[in-house]
Amino acid sequence: MGIRESDGYNAAMPLARRDFARIGILGGGQLGQMMMLAGIPLGFQFGILTPSRDDPAARLALHHEPGALDDDAAIHRLVSWADVTTYEIEHVNTDALQAAENAGGLILPRPALLGTINDKLEQKRVLQAAGIPVPGIAVQPQSYPIVQKLRRGGYDGRGVKILRDDRDRPLDGASYCEELVEFERELAVIVARSTSGETTTYPVVEMEFDADANICARVIAPARIEPSQETSAREVALAAVEALDGVGVLAVELFLARDGQILVNEIAPRPHNSGHLTIEACATSQFEQHLRAITGLPLGETALRSAAVMVNVLGDSGACGRPRLPAIDRLLERPGVHLHWYGKTEVRPYRKMGHVTVVADDLDDALTTAQEILPETRVTGGADDR
Ligand SMILES: Nc1ncnc2c1ncn2[C@@H]1O[C@H](COP(=O)(O)OP(=O)(O)O)[C@@H](O)[C@H]1O
Ligand SMILES: [Mg+2]
Repeated sequence: MGIRESDGYNAAMPLARRDFARIGILGGGQLGQMMMLAGIPLGFQFGILTPSRDDPAARLALHHEPGALDDDAAIHRLVSWADVTTYEIEHVNTDALQAAENAGGLILPRPALLGTINDKLEQKRVLQAAGIPVPGIAVQPQSYPIVQKLRRGGYDGRGVKILRDDRDRPLDGASYCEELVEFERELAVIVARSTSGETTTYPVVEMEFDADANICARVIAPARIEPSQETSAREVALAAVEALDGVGVLAVELFLARDGQILVNEIAPRPHNSGHLTIEACATSQFEQHLRAITGLPLGETALRSAAVMVNVLGDSGACGRPRLPAIDRLLERPGVHLHWYGKTEVRPYRKMGHVTVVADDLDDALTTAQEILPETRVTGGADDR
């Protein structure tokens, strides 16, 4: 599906032929940092909106707009500074973004999409109406077990609860219920859709979660699924992004159900943890692809050049203070191991401090190394003695 001129997307087109386009990013975390690391070689300049100069992305930004992600005036200033503005976190003031768009700013993915995605029930309704396979939804529990989800504000499993029977205490807040999917695996597909209407998908990956923290622990590429499942996962993911009129890179989380069905779980309107391994394993990383997509440049190649396993480097349970990676030497001595350390100034239990991508010709070798390095990815904390 192409993007119509009347939608105003053509405002972005000249960027493809203009050096040093200014990109605004709402948020100062590692996703913004990795966008900049990918965009600087292409000649882009970056401005960010984030409260703290200590945030990972602030170290690289040319322009820093200090402010909270719900600060209308700061959002307006960043959008005015930039040729195109994007976001690395979805918990931003959507009304302020909408106002900035109405005033002529270019924000991609568009604020209207963010409004839909930020309400999980609305997101599911739009997908369902477009014929995208999703788990059954209901406003109230009809039977048990069932999955209760807060409509807004959830992340890393906060805001999701399995209710086993009517004695289980539900979460407080506006919520809805979803059929409990018996899944074989959780999968993800990174989708790119550019201002020119060009689209592409990355190979399907497997996502594995830490059972205690409910946080993504490992991502495996290629996913160990049938070729027909690979094809349908990529088709469903692309159709989901088109249904939402997404422009940029979006990540589609999927369930591979026990009966073989592919169902959409949720969509992140930005580069995603499941796509970090594209930095080493693909010719075009998800971050570079996002910048190409929002500036109307041609999309890059997405095929895997090697097998890869990504391991999140999380704060140890109980860690606080200045982060340390005591086994960094052993980790970096290993062939095929790539460390991304985000430079956060403080560690907390389960906080994402970095990630490691292991690449190898053979997936089994990558999985073996990913297992061996686990003790070396331990992050502890200590007093700031510098
Ligand atoms: N309908 C469902 N059936 C079974 N498990 C689910 C369902 N929805 C979510 N989950 C589980 O809960 C996790 C978090 O849910 P998700 O909606 O992705 O929330 P978050 O925004 O916290 O990532 C999923 O990765 C999956 O493991
Ligand atoms: Mg999720």
